[in-house]
This record gives sequence, structure tokens and C-alpha cells, in this order.
Amino acid sequence: MQNYKLNNGVSIPAVGFGTWQTPPGEATVNAVKTALEYGYTHIDTAACYENEESVGQGIRESGVPREKLYVTTKLWNTERGYDSALKAFDQSLQKLRLDYVDLYLIHWPDNKSPEPNIASWKAFEKLYKEGRIKAIGLSNFQPQHIQPLLDLAEVPPAVNQIEYHPGFPQKETVDFCRKHGILIEAWSPLGSGRILQEQSLQQIAQKYHKSIAQLCLRWCLQNGILPLPKSVTPARIKENLQVFDFEITPEDMRRIDELPQFGWSGLDSAKVDF
Ligand SMILES: NC(=O)c1ccc[n+]([C@@H]2O[C@H](COP(=O)([O-])OP(=O)(O)OC[C@H]3O[C@@H](n4cnc5c(N)ncnc54)[C@H](OP(=O)(O)O)[C@@H]3O)[C@@H](O)[C@H]2O)c1
Repeated sequence: MQNYKLNNGVSIPAVGFGTWQTPPGEATVNAVKTALEYGYTHIDTAACYENEESVGQGIRESGVPREKLYVTTKLWNTERGYDSALKAFDQSLQKLRLDYVDLYLIHWPDNKSPEPNIASWKAFEKLYKEGRIKAIGLSNFQPQHIQPLLDLAEVPPAVNQIEYHPGFPQKETVDFCRKHGILIEAWSPLGSGRILQEQSLQQIAQKYHKSIAQLCLRWCLQNGILPLPKSVTPARIKENLQVFDFEITPEDMRRIDELPQFGWSGLDSAKVDF
């Protein structure tokens, strides 16, 4: 597994394992154990996925030492604010049965005002300084959400986790984050399965004797982005990690970069609030 280096010097495994929509209980426990067995070391969950307990159980049952793992969870929208974020973080740790998390993200920006985002961020900074989180970051933040937070942050965000896949490369947000040293993580790197029948991708994938899923993940990596593929299917979990043994040519990278829009979830964080 390769790593990226975050802006605070911490290393983060270059592919993470997604768990959104993996039901709590056996499904999540087994998916996490399978992923760890196949060599993933980085697990992405969130309070609102309601599977933190099962992620924690999968980690414990895998027998992989905690210090070898990278665990991310996220603050849900109902818990925005300083005190509520501190409380929500404690609850997540309790559910995961961990002493610390590697990365804690604000899951979704408040669109109406920057204040709740900043209040949550101040709580994140406190937890970070206490060593209970190794890196802090954002999710679904666009430049207009990030700038007010940067203006007041003592600790700049290390990560922004956004929808990113062929057909939806969110160039403006990616460029803004790059300029500010914020690593982009790709959620739905396979478009939640919606882009896996695309003819344009199929033609390119065939050249490399790889699946469309592997092409999408490799494309993220070659663009300096950290993909978080999700699967509950052992063969796919394995396949999605076999992306370090081929290289997409610059010409094919450009072809994928420039594809017209497809596969978007329709969730624009500048408009949608949960
Ligand atoms: N921060 C946020 O707001 C946010 C939002 C969405 C997602 N996320 C994170 O990003 C992760 C990934 O996003 P995602 O869950 O939307 O979807 P994804 O990884 O883009 O796609 C997952 C879908 O593709 C299928 N799949 C996986 N690998 C495959 C392969 N090699 N061949 C064919 N089909 C394959 C899976 O099926 P099976 O599972 O049935 O195998 C599942 O239906 C999430 O799990 C979550 O951790 C974050």
C-alpha cells in the first residue's frame, strides 16, 4: 500500500475502504474483516452510516494491531457546533471502541452560515491538540465553504472528501484544495456503481487488461487523489486493491479527465442540506 503525506506530516494509506450503505451487523463486520485480510489498512465510516460499532468489531476481530490501521469517521449535520461536536466525537469513539481516530471530518457544510462550520472546527482543533484525532478535515466543502474556515483556522484542514470519479472531477474544488495543501479524497470513486457500464471507460480499461473499476481507481491515484471504493463482495474488495501494477498513459489520463459529465449523484453541497 502506498501512502500520501498530509499537510501536518501524517501518512495516510493511498486507498481507503468505504462503508456507506453497508448495513450494520454481520455485513459490515465481514466486509471490514475481508478488506483488512486483503491488505487494506484504511477504513472510512461516519456517524450517519450507523455502522461504527460494526466497523470497530470488524477491526477487533481482524486481529490487525490498531497502530497499523487508519480509521476515519465523520461528524453528522445534526451535531454541528462546538459542544455538540465534542459530544458526538466521544460517541463515535465509544461506538468504534477506539482511543483515537486518525481522521475526523465535518461531513457536510452548513450552507446558510459559516458559523456552525467554524464552531465545529474549533471543537475539532481542540480534539486534535489533545491527540484524540491525528488529522482533521472536511467533506463536501466547496471553496466558498472552505475560505471562511481557513480565515479563522489555527489548524488548516488536511483533507476534503468529495464526490470524484470519471465524469465528475469537480475541478474548481480540487484546484482550490491543491492550492491550500488539502488532500482530496474521492467518495463514490466508482460513481456508486453508476459508471461501471460506460463504453468510453470500457475501451480504455481493455487496453490495460483491467476492469472499469480498477481504471477509475488508478485514475484517481494518478491525479493525486485518494479513492475510497466500497464493496461487500470479496472478489471486488480484492480487485479494487489491484491498482498498483499498471500505469495509465498521460494521453489516456487526459481522455478520462475530459469526458463529459456522467454518473453524478445529483448532490450539490452548495444547494442540498440534510
Ligand atoms: N463524505 C460523503 O458525503 C460520502 C458520500 C458517499 C460515499 N462516501 C464514502 O465513499 C465510499 C465509496 O462511495 P460509494 O459507496 O458511493 O460507492 P463506490 O465505491 O463508488 O461504488 C460502490 C458500488 O460499486 C460496486 N462495486 C464495488 N467494486 C466493484 C467492482 N470492482 N466491480 C463492480 N462493482 C463494484 C459495489 O457493489 P457491492 O458492494 O455489492 O460489491 C457498490 O454497489 C463510501 O462507502 C463512503 O465510505 C462518502
